[in-house]
Amino acid sequence: MLKFVTNPAIGGWAGRLGAALLILACGQPAADAAEAGRAARMAKFARPSTVPFPAHNPYSPEKAELGRRLFFDPLLSASGTIACATCHHPRLAWGDGLPRAIGEARMPLPFRSPTLLGAAWLEGFGWDGKFPTLEGVAFTPISTAANMGRNEAELLRDLAGDPAYRSAFEKVFPGEGVSRSTVERALATYERTIVPAIAPFDRWIGGDEAAIPESAKRGFDLFTGRAQCSECHSSWRFTDDSFHDIGTGGGDDIGRGKLFPNSPSLQYAFKVPTLRDVAKRAPYMHDGSLPDLLAVIDLYNRGGVDRPSRDPHIRPLGLTAKERADLLAFLEALTGEAARDPAAVTPR
Ligand code: HEC
Ligand code: HEC
Repeated sequence: MLKFVTNPAIGGWAGRLGAALLILACGQPAADAAEAGRAARMAKFARPSTVPFPAHNPYSPEKAELGRRLFFDPLLSASGTIACATCHHPRLAWGDGLPRAIGEARMPLPFRSPTLLGAAWLEGFGWDGKFPTLEGVAFTPISTAANMGRNEAELLRDLAGDPAYRSAFEKVFPGEGVSRSTVERALATYERTIVPAIAPFDRWIGGDEAAIPESAKRGFDLFTGRAQCSECHSSWRFTDDSFHDIGTGGGDDIGRGKLFPNSPSLQYAFKVPTLRDVAKRAPYMHDGSLPDLLAVIDLYNRGGVDRPSRDPHIRPLGLTAKERADLLAFLEALTGEAARDPAAVTPR
């Protein structure tokens, strides 16, 4: 609604028109336009209603339960002390809280343990995407010496020698029993059930205006607007599963550049991580080089290390202190509320 205000200092028809234009520029109609744009941006982050399972490895509750037992079982490691869950722990947002993972070698591995939240939707596995399928990743940690260091033949023998495991494998995989392939399929099925819990952000885009603070809403506008974060952190998981150099660290790991040595833009490129539960997963980045979310926001604000491979969307942002706080409030609104929604809790 346009309102005409008579400004005594200007007066007359021209004064009225000037005041009306002023209201047009910064009053209600402009705010309505921004809100409309916001609704369209919010719609792009709506959660899916089903979990995708591939035809070659369909879901069954028994298979997921067998995978869950394997995932939490330290029998899968040489020393009998390390399970998948040691590095992908549900209470640590499916990471381990360490800058870099520590396995059987008791020395930091080259990478930080990534979260497994939303694994069913992931399209390339590992920080540089070197593993093509979820099934295909399962045995690598088991048999890598510095990780779980377990001999494959001995592990399969021990599983087959355990009456409870043997009968569970026979039931889930009739005629196949314990094998590398059945272990991989059971683990992958369990991992696909690790779905991010509903977060305040989801309730907000579902229509509950009180679900997140105003600062988080302004942070969302920055995230999807001037700061261009959603160029890469798009979709309901806040990733498009692509690989970019965002100017992190000064280390000599060239990430996906190892697989594509001739691609200028893939040097120092790592996978765009999901931002679901991100506030619970410090430290950050593939090498755990940033201690907290403010340090991450500062990196983006500076524009990171300027080098030929750096993505064109990464450049100094000139954010004010208030804008940095808004972005932080937005990132904090992505933390799942498992306790509020028991159905969304992944089985332990
Ligand atoms: C010692 C810690 C450690 C253990 C134990 C471990 N992982 Fe990991 N996991 C990692 C690290 C580090 C990476 C990243 C590796 C890379 O990028 O090359 C990773 C990556 C993954 C990924 C890819 C995730 C993504 O976002 O790309 C999956 C899936 C995975 N692990 C599943 C498992 C399973 C299943 C087990 C047990 C059989 C397991 N992990 C045991 C540390 C561990
Ligand atoms: C060009 C693509 C791109 C853009 C734009 C981008 N990011 Fe990222 N983001 C990434 C990649 C790639 C990583 C992982 C880099 C690494 O591990 O070295 C990452 C990591 C992160 C992490 C750490 C997550 C974790 O688990 O370690 C946060 C938080 C984050 N980004 C937030 C943001 C915010 C906020 C913005 C906007 C200011 C933004 N990103 C813009 C690609 C992007």
